[in-house]
Amino acid sequence: MSDNIIEVQNLTVAFGKFIAVDGISFAVQKGEVFGFLGANGAGKTTTIRTICGVLNPTSGSVKVDGRDVSSSTAVLKPRIGYMSQKFTLYQDLSIQENMEFAGSLYNMPAAQIAARAKELFKFINLDTQPQTIVKDLPGGVKQMAALCATLLHNPDLVFLDEPTAGASPQTRKDFWALINALAKRGKTIFVTTHYMDEAEYCKRIVLMDKGKIIALNTPQGLKDEFFKQKPLELNLFLSKTNKPKSRQKSKRRAWGRRRFSARGCA
Ligand SMILES: Nc1ncnc2c1ncn2[C@@H]1O[C@H](COP(=O)(O)OP(=O)(O)O)[C@@H](O)[C@H]1O
Ligand SMILES: [Mg+2]
Repeated sequence: MSDNIIEVQNLTVAFGKFIAVDGISFAVQKGEVFGFLGANGAGKTTTIRTICGVLNPTSGSVKVDGRDVSSSTAVLKPRIGYMSQKFTLYQDLSIQENMEFAGSLYNMPAAQIAARAKELFKFINLDTQPQTIVKDLPGGVKQMAALCATLLHNPDLVFLDEPTAGASPQTRKDFWALINALAKRGKTIFVTTHYMDEAEYCKRIVLMDKGKIIALNTPQGLKDEFFKQKPLELNLFLSKTNKPKSRQKSKRRAWGRRRFSARGCA
């Protein structure tokens, strides 16, 4: 039995003549935090939407847990949680009402929704009352509430499409702590980002560019792959003839004595 929960083979997705995803292949292991890194328009969202069964492949195959996604949508739907890049909670409803709506999409009984929402609010350390109207929440809390809605039906495969885009450094940190906590609970996390630093949190990362995969590796493997040469160290000293004239003389002297290093690749 394969340890892969997602298997993508030669996937191409075209919109008319435009090829958004161009013959990509990769597999994601169960329990992995798998990152998709790429600039806007690289094809990350299109790939996710195809794996979730929202879009059909133009060619190639996409399997989740060994099942073809296009023909097994109903079976796979309860297993998948998808937090889309676009904020999807209803702004005029409270957090609690949004949870009730999200649960109803999966035919969850009211008591189960209430219990699960309570558990999730505790898990994410929700810093507000569940009766708060979504539009009145700060951006970071909105994202956390959207994560709760995504997790409400307890999916084991969770897609997070740029969950930290535009978030403050603290919210990004909190969000990644939650992602790791979810992975420890056995969930598979497929996350997209365009923040290079966030790639470090993933077990493996795909680099995507113009619909193609240009690299797939661990964070360390990628560094080794792209920074093979020994880093250069550049030492800068201000020359003695470059004497400061202003009243900041002593400060600038200190500056002149200081050594600067710049690291780069040969
Ligand atoms: N429904 C669509 N119709 C036409 N073009 C689309 C559609 N969805 C995405 N695209 C195009 O496909 C490319 C990849 O988009 P997307 O997958 O959203 O990239 P990313 O998520 O990496 O920013 C973009 O050029 C985008 O404009
Ligand atoms: Mg996108």
